[in-house]
Amino acid sequence: MLPARPEDSNKATFGHVLNIAGSVNFRGAAYLSTVSALRVGAGYAILAAIPPVIDAVSAQLPEAVYLPLPQEGSAISPKSFPLLASQIKPGTVCALGCGISALGCDLKIFNSFLHDFISLLIAKKIPLVLDADGLNWLAQSGENFHFDGNCVMTPHPMELARLLKTDVESIQKNREHFAQKASEKFHAIVLLKGHRTIIADGKNLHINETGNSALAKAGTGDCLTGMIAGFLAQKMSPFDAAVLGAKIHGLAGEFAAKEFSEYGVLASDLPKYAAKILRESE
Ligand code: APR
Ligand code: MG
Repeated sequence: MLPARPEDSNKATFGHVLNIAGSVNFRGAAYLSTVSALRVGAGYAILAAIPPVIDAVSAQLPEAVYLPLPQEGSAISPKSFPLLASQIKPGTVCALGCGISALGCDLKIFNSFLHDFISLLIAKKIPLVLDADGLNWLAQSGENFHFDGNCVMTPHPMELARLLKTDVESIQKNREHFAQKASEKFHAIVLLKGHRTIIADGKNLHINETGNSALAKAGTGDCLTGMIAGFLAQKMSPFDAAVLGAKIHGLAGEFAAKEFSEYGVLASDLPKYAAKILRESE
């Protein structure tokens, strides 16, 4: 399934990931998602974040491009819209939500920011990975976007329960049904996380068989978002990018555990192991 790496290529060949991530309390989420997109082969990763997040991430990741956004409280200000909109070009894919805490924001203003930004992505047919607080905002706003198959939503069971106004227990009893239900509601690819992650597009269903308890540690979900965005940037279809992202992410957990044990793996180990797995598959 791996996207081709033509000899006659340059960084533009492999796409731009615009990653909107991080807040004062969740700076690492921005690092993990951005480095993961680059490690699976994206040509560019642009981290759009508030200045304290950029200061922290850029000290560790010189390879990314940084777009400082206006800050409100500890999170992104809704005034960021024009700056973000200016980044949307053909070949851009967007990841939205890793660690973008709503703390300190006027949610009403934020709802209109989110509405306008997601509407712009849909109008311009920009592929999107929507994760974490991006999903939580969507759930509490009650908006019903129609993503036309061009979005991968990556909820864990609690995030899916919020989106479908049900509870985690019901979801876990019938994971396939609820993943398909959300996929039909939003016309999106829905990746329902957990042991045996499910990828659903309303018709087709894939069950991922890789991964282990090493992944049950904070930050691993941010790596998955970055990997899927990185594959989308290389022009994979959203369904295939989600399937491949989940597979490589799980294998990275398995390989990392061979060195560090299922107890000791860190989320920040996963991007390098993902790259080693890609080497085996080249
Ligand atoms: N077996 C296989 N896979 C597993 C297991 C397991 N036992 N446990 C967890 N995983 C995988 C899940 O399938 C998923 O891909 O690890 C990943 C965990 O993702 P999340 O639940 O999203 O966890 P996390 O990384 O902590 O999310 C952090 O969420 O709280 C927000 O905004 C915050 O961006 C931050 C993000
Ligand atoms: Mg998460």
